[in-house]
Amino acid sequence: MEYSPYYNPELETMPRKELERLQLERLQHTVRHCMNAEFYRKKFAELGITPDDIKSLDDVRRLPFTTKEDLRENYPFGLACVPMRDCTRLHSSSGTTGNPTVVLHTKKDLDEWATAVARCLWMVGSRPEDVFQNSAGYGMFTAGLGFQYGAEAVGMLTVPAAAGNTTRQIKFIRDFGTTVLHAIPSYASRIYEVMREEGVDPRRDTKLRVLCIGAEPHSEEQRQRIEENLGVKAYNSYGISEMMGPGVAFECPQQNGLHIWEDYFIVEIIDPVTLEPLPDGELGELVLTTINREAMPLLRYRTRDLTRILPGECSCGRCHRRLARLQGRSDDMIILKGVNIFPIQIEKTLLKFRELATDYLITLETKEEGDTMTIDVELAADFSTDDFKALLALEKNVTRLLKDEILITPKIHLVPKGTLTVSDEKKAVRVKDLRKLF
Ligand code: COA
Ligand code: ZN
Repeated sequence: MEYSPYYNPELETMPRKELERLQLERLQHTVRHCMNAEFYRKKFAELGITPDDIKSLDDVRRLPFTTKEDLRENYPFGLACVPMRDCTRLHSSSGTTGNPTVVLHTKKDLDEWATAVARCLWMVGSRPEDVFQNSAGYGMFTAGLGFQYGAEAVGMLTVPAAAGNTTRQIKFIRDFGTTVLHAIPSYASRIYEVMREEGVDPRRDTKLRVLCIGAEPHSEEQRQRIEENLGVKAYNSYGISEMMGPGVAFECPQQNGLHIWEDYFIVEIIDPVTLEPLPDGELGELVLTTINREAMPLLRYRTRDLTRILPGECSCGRCHRRLARLQGRSDDMIILKGVNIFPIQIEKTLLKFRELATDYLITLETKEEGDTMTIDVELAADFSTDDFKALLALEKNVTRLLKDEILITPKIHLVPKGTLTVSDEKKAVRVKDLRKLF
């Protein structure tokens, strides 16, 4: 069957001028809608602005920034702009020691999200004839349900395999004829390793054709390695749970930058120190304003992700600008196995144990079984290291509480007081990232 190369032909290829007109209309509507939340009313009053001050797209710069801290401080529903009865789902980040972040969605928000993901999947060649398998965590991880509903909107047969159990993932890929797979880059490599161990040749024994890889910064070399190993085309996916999750930006078949859906977002790149806007082509922090969200619009949200806008048009015909490969973060967030972790979550959890001293060191490594986190922690001076049973029990408790907090299982090394050197000349080094990029 002959399909259009676009999922939403009109919205994906409209002339820039029309797109900008749509953006302004949606921005003005969004800003007025934000006045339903006390949080935004206060911010506007402080800046002495009203929704009527937004007359052009450039006026977005007059709006206040929104940050992760704002979401935490107004946990859980302080940024809601609709009554709770109109909300259909929420997604929340991990963490029990501090306030996690919560994002609310109405039914329409969820439909728009599914459409954004469907556009991305369609863009890289997924069609109703395809079989789509998702190895993201379901539940609160946005890449689970996010890809699920997007793939269903495309009309593919979906296999909601969820995270882990690699042998079973491979069996599904073979038995169900999976052609399109979503996996974070390190897990795509893991799947390949296990295929090799099991004597499965991806080219001969599977129908895999397209891989969607995201949630972890990765290099061009890593992409190529995944493509060669699995005999697929691999496309970079960018999502952020505060915006919705996957579906924010995605590579097209040109594999040269990620189209960001500008009928959903107003895109700015700023200098994270001066907060001044940067011209196209310059590396800075991505700042996004949602312009078609009902439950919880976010104005000038500071993503902390570093990237730049690629100048020029793309030969695929889409009018939406492209972001360069994401380059890391302007804060200290760790991304391990597709899970976002702040070192402060680990520190706060460790501090709950009187048996532990305050020095610790987090080491991230790439091992045969995948990426791992090891935490060396010093024992309190009065804790006897001779009591083997007590030591084991403590290790188990620390591991359990940390798993509750950060959702992955770290390896805990309890060491005697005074054995860790965690500071260089100026400041404490708490995280050592020794992971191989590919
Ligand atoms: N996606 C899918 N599976 C993953 C994974 C990932 N990002 N990272 C690890 N796994 C696999 C492991 O290979 C292992 O497979 P096996 O059953 O074949 O041995 C299994 O999951 C368990 O991993 P392990 O490292 O022992 O467990 P953990 O407790 O440290 O981690 C996970 C728990 C895997 C459940 C957690 O890392 C997770 O949910 N990751 C997915 C996050 C996600 O979907 N992010 C998308 C962005 S929103
Ligand atoms: Zn393109």
